[in-house]
Amino acid sequence: MKNDLLTFTNWQSEQVKRILDLALAVKTKPENYQQVLAGKSIVALFEKPSLRTRLSFDIGINKLGGHFVYLDVQGDNLKDRESLADTAANIACWADGLISRVFSHETLEVYAQSCDIPVVNALCDKFHPCQAMADMLTLTETFGDLSKVKLAYFGDGNNVAHSLMIAAAHLGMNLAVVTPQGYETEQYALDSALSIAAKTGAEITVSNDINDAIGANAVYTDTWISMGDDTPPESIEAVFSPYQINQALLDKTGATHVMHCQPAHRDVEITSEIMDSKCSLLMQQAENRMHAQNAILINLLT
Ligand code: CP
Ligand code: NVA
Repeated sequence: MKNDLLTFTNWQSEQVKRILDLALAVKTKPENYQQVLAGKSIVALFEKPSLRTRLSFDIGINKLGGHFVYLDVQGDNLKDRESLADTAANIACWADGLISRVFSHETLEVYAQSCDIPVVNALCDKFHPCQAMADMLTLTETFGDLSKVKLAYFGDGNNVAHSLMIAAAHLGMNLAVVTPQGYETEQYALDSALSIAAKTGAEITVSNDINDAIGANAVYTDTWISMGDDTPPESIEAVFSPYQINQALLDKTGATHVMHCQPAHRDVEITSEIMDSKCSLLMQQAENRMHAQNAILINLLT
């Protein structure tokens, strides 16, 4: 039976751990995986812009000997021609996998239910699992055993925060999610993370209190306004600015490293000084998108 990667919430923790191990192996010994997707075609449907996700999938699939077909569904070019279900069912007539970035998570669920090929979430309103897996790879390379690592996330409690919670829970990590009031993570994501954490020994906390991040090895942030959200920046600056990643926050928490999924807004959610400092893991995270996604594709498609 085919498997999809929509959220990681319904995966076994062992399976997630295997992806992390495979990502390390693919990164270390790429020559062993050069033909692993030979003869396979993977279609990408992206409703929103992307630099990292689109390119890391395209180049990564190429490095595995597979074929990537990007279909632009930003704007109205394919809108209302046929149902989402019919779109996915047709793609499955030719392709071996479907990668999609969507506004609404429900679109991914319809795709997954309507075709017999694996569907991979390349970011939706609720989750960003490929990002989280790349981030876990980055933390493993930097700190080693994740059960001894504390990560603190600062900012909006939406897609990236949700996926970090689920991945951290599976991998037994300590994650403190610290958001401004009114921007907390959604209950369904927290409940899922806590139920996984109860089995793995992970510690997942959510609060509005910066003090909860003290003792973190690394601090993480994301844009304060996500794609598709038309909130005017000036209306949220006062609420979010205490959570900016800057030198004072590093001093307070004791963190030695900083993370950001990017695109980053310099001197908004993170200072330029910190982004360009030796604390930054941003480019390692970006590079690891490809290795983590290649491990996911090998797992789902072979
Ligand atoms: N982090 C991330 O998903 O970047 P893109 O939006 O550029 O794909
Ligand atoms: N939260 C951000 C993540 C971008 C990678 C967004 O949804 O736009």
